[in-house]
Amino acid sequence: MFSHRVKIGKLEVSPPLFLAPMAGLTHSGLRQLILDFGGVGLLSTEMLSASSLPQENPSISPYLFRAQRERPMSYQLLVYSARHVEKAVEKIEELGADAVDINLGCGAPKVVKKGGGVALSRDVKRLREIVSKVKETTALPVTVKIRLGPRTDVKAFEDRCRILEDLGIDALYVHARFDKEPFARPPRWEIAASAKRALSIPVIINGGIFSIEDAKRCLEITGADGIMIGRGAAIRPWIFRQIKETLFDGKGDFDASKVNLLEVWLRFFDYLEGLFLPERRLGRLKEFTHYFSQNYAFGNRFAMAVQRSRTMEEARSRAMEFFEKNETPRVLA
Ligand SMILES: Cc1cc2nc3c(=O)[nH]c(=O)nc-3n(C[C@H](O)[C@H](O)[C@H](O)COP(=O)(O)O)c2cc1C
Repeated sequence: MFSHRVKIGKLEVSPPLFLAPMAGLTHSGLRQLILDFGGVGLLSTEMLSASSLPQENPSISPYLFRAQRERPMSYQLLVYSARHVEKAVEKIEELGADAVDINLGCGAPKVVKKGGGVALSRDVKRLREIVSKVKETTALPVTVKIRLGPRTDVKAFEDRCRILEDLGIDALYVHARFDKEPFARPPRWEIAASAKRALSIPVIINGGIFSIEDAKRCLEITGADGIMIGRGAAIRPWIFRQIKETLFDGKGDFDASKVNLLEVWLRFFDYLEGLFLPERRLGRLKEFTHYFSQNYAFGNRFAMAVQRSRTMEEARSRAMEFFEKNETPRVLA
């Protein structure tokens, strides 16, 4: 049995199961779908640009909109300069953030070019300024999400982790891949484990967890204080519930084979329609369906059908055609 909770600053996260920040995916619609099943310990926004965040209107912004029940919630900041920190942190405090996370793992060229994500992780001077500024501005728990670095150099990785710990962060999220590695590559949990050995703050491991078995192996290999799940949460929004019942409670009545996939997809569709402005819905439906369709043996046909649609209605009727023909076979982990 693994530890049931982890303390991140003053925030207790129980079970220690974290939703990973994902641009275009971890909005209110997916978060609510996940909450419908339960089992998640800490929710997250997608990355939010610290410079434009203060101008966003939270009642219509798909990045900021949040229902009352979505808690506890971490807000992830993409920061280029310490001068953007104060206003951004004030804004997320107003919005009821439970924790602040700093993105040091994004490798998208447009982010790296401006000095954010992995580029910030290599610029220790600016990194110190930014993390210190965040710590100084807020009493909320502060976390950082990193990758393993440019290449296999465990010592350099551990040194970077220690710098972050010395800056006073309350927990570290480690995405167990090198900076330029694609998500398709198997995670390197063994290397990520060295962060847990090197630090005394909580270390949460992320990358490649798609099933109860993956979660168990990751926790065993790394000795981590918790795990963070990204794509697996969009494929199976019930994954947190499964892991909680199996690995943390040791009992439960959730039966993944009874999940009605059509009902789940339609519920997500309704969340999008109810929560977001019309022009904000279809892109998010396509993004989610790209992952959710992996529950089907011929899911690529489902994803393509939605991908080709020009309106929400068209996407729904194409999806219904697919569901009518394919309620089985399905793939379930
Ligand atoms: C569509 C997508 C968007 C992502 N956006 C972010 C982001 O905004 N911030 C971040 O730190 N990581 C982002 N990531 C990386 C994830 O948080 C996570 O580290 C990665 O998907 C590996 O975890 P997984 O194997 O459980 O999916 C994104 C990943 C995906 C697939």
